[in-house]
Amino acid sequence: MARQIRIFDTTLRDGEQSPGASLTPSEKLRIAHQLSKLNVDVIEAGFPIASVGDFEAVRAIAQEVQGPEIAGLCRAVPGDIDRAWEALQYAGKPRIHTFIATSDIHLKHKLKRTRDQVRKAAVDAVARARSYTPRVEFSAEDAVRSDFGFLCEMVSAVIDAGASVVNIPDTVGYSTPSEFGPLIGRLMECVPNVNQAVISVHCHNDLGLAVANSLAAVEHGAQQVECTINGLGERAGNASLEEIVMALKVREDLYDASTGVNTRQLYPTSRLVSSLTGIAVQPNKAIVGDNAFAHEAGIHQHGVLQAAETYEIMDARSIGRAESQLVLGKHSGRHAFERHLRELGYELGHDDLNRAFYQFKELADKKKQVSDRDIEFVVADAVAGAPEALHLEYLHVATGMDIVPTATVRLLRNGQPVQEARTGVGSVDAVYRAIAKLSGVKHQLVDFTVQSVTGGTDALADVTVRVSWRNRVFTGRGSSMDVIEASAKAYVQAVNRVLLARDQAAKR
Ligand code: KIV
Ligand code: ZN
Repeated sequence: MARQIRIFDTTLRDGEQSPGASLTPSEKLRIAHQLSKLNVDVIEAGFPIASVGDFEAVRAIAQEVQGPEIAGLCRAVPGDIDRAWEALQYAGKPRIHTFIATSDIHLKHKLKRTRDQVRKAAVDAVARARSYTPRVEFSAEDAVRSDFGFLCEMVSAVIDAGASVVNIPDTVGYSTPSEFGPLIGRLMECVPNVNQAVISVHCHNDLGLAVANSLAAVEHGAQQVECTINGLGERAGNASLEEIVMALKVREDLYDASTGVNTRQLYPTSRLVSSLTGIAVQPNKAIVGDNAFAHEAGIHQHGVLQAAETYEIMDARSIGRAESQLVLGKHSGRHAFERHLRELGYELGHDDLNRAFYQFKELADKKKQVSDRDIEFVVADAVAGAPEALHLEYLHVATGMDIVPTATVRLLRNGQPVQEARTGVGSVDAVYRAIAKLSGVKHQLVDFTVQSVTGGTDALADVTVRVSWRNRVFTGRGSSMDVIEASAKAYVQAVNRVLLARDQAAKR
């Protein structure tokens, strides 16, 4: 029988470390519910000591999300472990994930500690975590660049101290499959008590090898893979969950290993994460990219029409991509809309559904064809996010060939109307100057992109804005049939996130 590989999703922790991917606690909760539907084994919900927002998100996920284990990250420090437990204690299956670096590079330059000191800190941390729960994971940060003998000693010591999972990360994405696979194999042979714990891997993608390295590790005995939706994560990201899962499924003959993931939820999960983080999926991305199942060359199209297996190694429906091009229009009723949302992987509460349905009807009135991608944006817009300090109430733009673009913007700031008029080099510039003035917080605009969700001049415009505040990047996203309105909504959302972070920082 095929070995079962556990899937540890760290989209909400390592994935959220992608620049600009910051999510509000309520957005994290939505993603966690979707990850539970996807049936991952573990959801790493955050790093509770890192911020009040992270703590709240981990606690809410622990309280509400059923099914997977819920993990929280902490350094090998007593205060971190206690704080993680404070947030995790409500979970049905809580897991404390503690880590410390083991490479001499990190010991010398970052930790300034000896190997003995690091071993003691790790053992003490695992023992403290064990006093709270039997589900304790230990990660040897920068394991790949660690001395192999010391790494084996560390793994053995933390298993003796009670770690039930030991994770071997390629923190800097330096390894290659022919090196990383055998490293795991040798570890399995050299650590005497290795069978008392699950051996996990966590690969970064700096050389584009994170998925290949993780799969090589599975071939050499790894039993858990840590990965993220859309491959999000620190720097070049982590191993992409959808690629790992589908490689194990499509090539089960080779790996003799499978996962418990409900693959039909892969595509809806990818879309949800992309829309909430504002980080687009590249069109040629394996499994979930727009082009992953598109056949352009005539000879390929002909082959696929005769027999799909000529050029397709998997069925688009197996990952939940059987997108109906046009399903809903202005005559569609609420039940059809709700049923269709469920097919797309959305389960909305009563108020969110009402708002989404109202917005869908408005769009269907203006647009002949409402596609699934349009609906995704309608839902993202309609679902209640964090309480908004600023709300766009009114927008007027005067522009043309021979006039100076001028914008008047009215926002509700904590419920009170505030208004500003500004000129600019273009209409978006004028609107942005007015919003910046009204925002009440100093920040820089670092990025602005516009995409059309579907084709045609009546397409929804999807605008993504990134702003920086105190060296952190915040993303906002807005959609509308009018590009100026979409731009204003996106900017207001980004500023709202800055204001939320500022309030949280003030509470600390
Ligand atoms: O990349 C890494 O080493 C990590 C650990 C904290 C698991 O993210
Ligand atoms: Zn990592």
